[in-house]
Amino acid sequence: MSKNIESHLIEDRVFKPSKEFSKKARVSSMAQYRRMYKESIEKPSLFWAREAKELHWQKPWKKVLEWKAPFAKWFTEAKLNVCENCVDRHLSNGRKNKAAIIWEGEPGDKRVLTYHQLHREVCRFSNVLEANGVKARDRVLIYMPMVPEAAIAMLACARIGAVHSVVFGGFSAESISDRLEDSGATAVITADGGYRRGKVVPLKKNVDDALKKYQGVKRCIVYQRTNEKVTMKRGRDVWWHTEAKKVSADHTPKGFDSEHPLFILYTSGSTGKPKGILHTSGGYLVGTYTSSKYIFDMRNDDIFWCTADVGWVTGHSYIVFGPLANGVTQVMYEGAPNYPDFGRFWDIVEEYGVTTFYTAPTAIRAFIKAGDHLPDARDLSSLRLLGTVGEPINPEAWMWYREKIGSGRCPIVDTWWQTETGSIMISPLPGCTPTKPGTATLPFFGVDAAILDEEGNECKADEGGKLVIRKPWPSMLRTIYGDKARYRKTYWNDYEGIYTAGDGARTDKNGNFWIVGRLDDVLNVSGHRLGTAEVESALVAHKDVAEAAVVGRPHEIKGQGIVAFVTLKGQAKASPAAEKDLKAHVTKAIGAIARPDEIYFPPDGLPKTRSGKIMRRILKELVATGKVTGNVTTLEDFTVVRSLQKLLQKK
Ligand code: WT7
Repeated sequence: MSKNIESHLIEDRVFKPSKEFSKKARVSSMAQYRRMYKESIEKPSLFWAREAKELHWQKPWKKVLEWKAPFAKWFTEAKLNVCENCVDRHLSNGRKNKAAIIWEGEPGDKRVLTYHQLHREVCRFSNVLEANGVKARDRVLIYMPMVPEAAIAMLACARIGAVHSVVFGGFSAESISDRLEDSGATAVITADGGYRRGKVVPLKKNVDDALKKYQGVKRCIVYQRTNEKVTMKRGRDVWWHTEAKKVSADHTPKGFDSEHPLFILYTSGSTGKPKGILHTSGGYLVGTYTSSKYIFDMRNDDIFWCTADVGWVTGHSYIVFGPLANGVTQVMYEGAPNYPDFGRFWDIVEEYGVTTFYTAPTAIRAFIKAGDHLPDARDLSSLRLLGTVGEPINPEAWMWYREKIGSGRCPIVDTWWQTETGSIMISPLPGCTPTKPGTATLPFFGVDAAILDEEGNECKADEGGKLVIRKPWPSMLRTIYGDKARYRKTYWNDYEGIYTAGDGARTDKNGNFWIVGRLDDVLNVSGHRLGTAEVESALVAHKDVAEAAVVGRPHEIKGQGIVAFVTLKGQAKASPAAEKDLKAHVTKAIGAIARPDEIYFPPDGLPKTRSGKIMRRILKELVATGKVTGNVTTLEDFTVVRSLQKLLQKK
């Protein structure tokens, strides 16, 4: 009873934007939101054409949308250059000498690039790529630290029609070679190293290791960031700065088809092999442009800061393409949030007068733990809007964010979306939507979101089901690179012509969407997706491992932590050394983000069904509660559960 009252109370905390914020906002009333939303759903062609016309098209479209489920074409036959829209367009609209990127390196070095300077750098690097044999449609892998050159490399690829695939700098050599192979990349852009928590990440060294396995790369362009000593392979490796000196700073942006591939970004699925999510040009740009404009209520005088890494989709859409298409000034920071301490972000907000701050719940929880004295000691009064992304935000973190960072004054946009959706799908509009801690609230324009039950019926309020999108949207993924069958099977298999997101959710009586979490075997570690199967296949690749099962457990900071259960082969002995060795092994295979927090070696093996399937559900329950309550009639041997319980109690 008291529990019900408690949750009722939490849901009733409603925060409306201040009159002052609403007055200046693009969408300033719920009536305006509803009118625009209705039009975007009922007349999508009209709505999206109007938005798209704010961008520059070298050739107009015939049709706004051609939909043969599950394949969409947006702005058919139109031609545009995505880079021209993000950069060149601002040279003639009054923003030429405006700061495009204000950058701070982890050691404290600072740079500012105006749109004019950004244009010169991007043109130069486009010429470098072309001089090094990179052509339209070639796949280029980017493995860079968070320096402006990461964005410049992405923009230059877009400018010449090459397809970039950014790999997060925290991923390992093996992850790089897998992605090179899957994408068939012919060029790599990297740096000697990058700074992270005061240490140098050996980026070029990791690329070298990856290139031993994959031979298809003809050119590797290396940006000098840390002055690390690196090996340069003759005929394959060249320095960014030497190449840049050989070319001019002029480059004409050619128009590409609206459906020309823009990038591939790999993300985890429920099998061991990451999926190459393919995004194309026109629709993606319109989606990121429009969502940035309305959801972050972008204004010409904003200093926008998205703290994500360009290696994730958030960095693609809300560091590179969305904000630059809107011509705002943005902050880019190279390093860790806790270097030298957890006050670093607030120093940056104060120093540059950040107005809009977009981060992840996991970071907020880390800030709470680090203590209020850190934000309290800084002037955060420049902030006007806050955002979160990556996982459901716990109400405690939401309230702290609102009070401590936003001084109870800044609206919070809790934005739900995915690598696949390309841009934000469910989110408050900051000038009108009443917000509640823990809900991403209402669908963005053009997003026909719903919760369906197994039969495909719409769930009633407060009834849990599958989160789906019933209509195509401009920035949707077009396919999984090289695997149409997997594309159909993963996203379009549950209901005819309807996109399944893989998240469980419910709506409340006001239509707000509450995202519960993944329905598949996908973990959300610090706001990033990791397949349990991916970690398991890394573990079983170790010579001593016979079998492995990986599950998530609630984690105070990371949202979910990784727990692995491993059975060893014949002679191998369970020991703290073996645990350490296996953790290092996973780090090497995938990256530190996939490193299990704990590894158990169950003496009587893993819980299995009679047909030999590992029952992960039981492991999950055991690590979370120490008990097993669900149906265990299919379990082969219950003594396995008892011995697991003992093992878990010991730790
Ligand atoms: C998954 C997508 C989109 C950029 C970051 C992650 C979860 C994302 C929210 C949110 C609740 C969220 C979902 C989703 N998620 N944002 N605001 N509230 N859950 O991108 O790696 O593609 O992961 O992250 O489970 O499916 P991603």
